[in-house]
Amino acid sequence: MGKLDGKVALITGAGSGIGRATAILFAQEGAKVAVVDVDQDGANGAVAEIGAKGGQAFAFKADVSRARDAEAMVAETVRRFGRLDIIYNNAGIFFPAQVHSMSEEEWDRMLSINLKGVFLGCKYALAELMKHGGVILATGSIAGLEGHNGEPHYGAAKAGVINLMKSIAMDYAHYNIRANCICPGGVQTNIAKEIVNRIAPEQLVKMGQLAMTHSLIKRQAQPEEIARAALFLCSDDASFITGHTLVVDGGWTAGHRMAFFDS
Ligand SMILES: NC(=O)c1ccc[n+]([C@@H]2O[C@H](COP(=O)([O-])OP(=O)(O)OC[C@H]3O[C@@H](n4cnc5c(N)ncnc54)[C@H](O)[C@@H]3O)[C@@H](O)[C@H]2O)c1
Repeated sequence: MGKLDGKVALITGAGSGIGRATAILFAQEGAKVAVVDVDQDGANGAVAEIGAKGGQAFAFKADVSRARDAEAMVAETVRRFGRLDIIYNNAGIFFPAQVHSMSEEEWDRMLSINLKGVFLGCKYALAELMKHGGVILATGSIAGLEGHNGEPHYGAAKAGVINLMKSIAMDYAHYNIRANCICPGGVQTNIAKEIVNRIAPEQLVKMGQLAMTHSLIKRQAQPEEIARAALFLCSDDASFITGHTLVVDGGWTAGHRMAFFDS
């Protein structure tokens, strides 16, 4: 018996990385999955992988920052599978910037996808979830919990996501809806794809190594390690957990090392 038997889950950004690993795991656990991504090929690939393992899923192309797309992804899920029980707002982008040199368009793009996209997903999913209860999950980041240099727009969006999940938990608990947030540290995915051609290869390698330097478990997470946390929060194993921010960062934010005591 799977942990999500009989459930219908919609996952955004499910064509790659954390979302894809979660879509595969949710399907293995018995959920029917709407694999939503702006990248149609990525979404198709995830659906093929789920199908090959005997799971049920369909791919849907949507830009989560557009209200019409967000409404359509929920409507198509309900049309195909008859209901919606879980929405995992996971789609996101990353590129570094600093406030003094960031354009208004760069700020707007980051906030539109990484924060407004979560609002829109929740807005249209809630109409379905309020009929019978359900679960909302979002991917935040440790960058939303503490200041990180070089990514103020990303951190501001993720801080917004964390608060949005807590606020939704408060407003919809009486509909039997739980809302939580996962905050990963460094995860080995394609999140840096936008900048691979814009920064020197050695800088890219250094970016990948950040998790090795800063986390206590000296490596990046694999997307499957975040997916398992998502499964926990979306299943009945977390039936009494709502308004929670689950940090999955290998100890990156556990504290500040005081070299004085090291020897
Ligand atoms: N990788 C990390 O180190 C890390 C750390 C903390 C948080 N996160 C967050 O995890 C989430 C998933 O990212 P990932 O690391 O798996 O990266 P990824 O690039 O592998 O996957 C992100 C997916 O989102 C999709 N996407 C981007 N913009 C979209 C849009 N407008 N509409 C629909 N889909 C869109 C992409 O096409 C891609 O398939 C993001 O919210 C990211 O901010 C990642």
